[in-house]
Amino acid sequence: RIARHFLPQAEGDVCLRRSHCRAKGGAPGFKVAILGAAGGIGQPLAMLMKMNPLVSVLHLYDVVNTPGVTADISHMDTGAVVRGFLGQQQLADALTGVDLVIIPAGVPRKPGMTRDDLFNINAGIVKTLCEAIAKCCPKAIVNLISNPVNSTVPIAAEVFKRAGTYDPKRLLGVTMLDVVRANTFVAEVLGVDPRDVDVPVVGGHAGITILPLLSQVKPPFSFTPKEIEYLSDRIQNGGTEVVEAKAGAGSATLSMAYAAVKFADACLRALRGDAGIIECAYVASQVTELPFFASKARLGRGGVEEILPLGPLNDYEREGLEKAKKELAASIEKGISFIRK
Ligand code: NAD
Ligand code: LMR
Repeated sequence: RIARHFLPQAEGDVCLRRSHCRAKGGAPGFKVAILGAAGGIGQPLAMLMKMNPLVSVLHLYDVVNTPGVTADISHMDTGAVVRGFLGQQQLADALTGVDLVIIPAGVPRKPGMTRDDLFNINAGIVKTLCEAIAKCCPKAIVNLISNPVNSTVPIAAEVFKRAGTYDPKRLLGVTMLDVVRANTFVAEVLGVDPRDVDVPVVGGHAGITILPLLSQVKPPFSFTPKEIEYLSDRIQNGGTEVVEAKAGAGSATLSMAYAAVKFADACLRALRGDAGIIECAYVASQVTELPFFASKARLGRGGVEEILPLGPLNDYEREGLEKAKKELAASIEKGISFIRK
């Protein structure tokens, strides 16, 4: 027996007594889809998005196990209506009318692998999902989590270009976990609450392309060379630290779900019209000569409204930037060629 909430429904079909297009307090509520919702990231992400008061309708899509995840999450007594969608034949229904699509679909690393080792499988998954987004919700904001992010964002851009729907402002690679880690590790060194720390992390989302700008940390602090080495290494290899600790059972899922929700919430507040929302993300950019780069971006109703300059870098950061750009250029090219060839 398929639970009722699992069947694709028309808007307003769920409950006749309330409107689902308004969040509590009369503010607009948004329709959000998670693609890969039954996975290690997808499940806690779905739970946290069900708790987000800005979400009025939550669509959970995966190629496996969405009935169970949807039944489970739909019992939470929060405002969002949850609907599940299983398999490619339900992908269009999962995406129709959606304001924000979050994509954690794809395979994770095992010890000894780089994120680029995931390219062969995840590139195809991202391509398929983005083709459906272009058809069913071309105006949606897309938060792309699937690795290797340095290549999957260029893949998504090429798919949207081909479909004639590409809007660089609406495609954002999620690098928030790097910022979350940087804030945590820096706070440990400073001996302060991580919520009071802000570390810009620029570049990309893999190894040396992850560039924490420790010279711009808030609150301002002058680190010793040893502290800079330790922090840069730990932030750049935070993902590998988790992969190794999980010993074959996957990569970061819980901290990633937290970071994804933090980022999605910023996108939704920006869509609502809140001012002054600035987050780091991997986006189409002119900050460097590369077509994509992660840096601080001001978010608004249309997605990325402005990309902030990198600000003054010290010698250590300038050197890191040059190394990062070389690797990033190759990852971007690999993503673009995957679609063009
Ligand atoms: P997982 O294997 O636990 O879950 C992935 C889910 O994707 C599974 O439920 C699977 O069924 C689903 N899936 C596979 N193909 C699909 C398709 N065609 N359509 C829809 N769903 C599909 O993996 P995870 O731990 O959740 O990680 C997912 C991805 O996120 C990996 O690529 C991982 O490397 C990446 N990741 C990125 C960051 C980041 O900071 N951007 C952080 C952590 C993980
Ligand atoms: C992370 O940074 O945790 C993710 O990119 C997953 C990984 O493979 O490290």
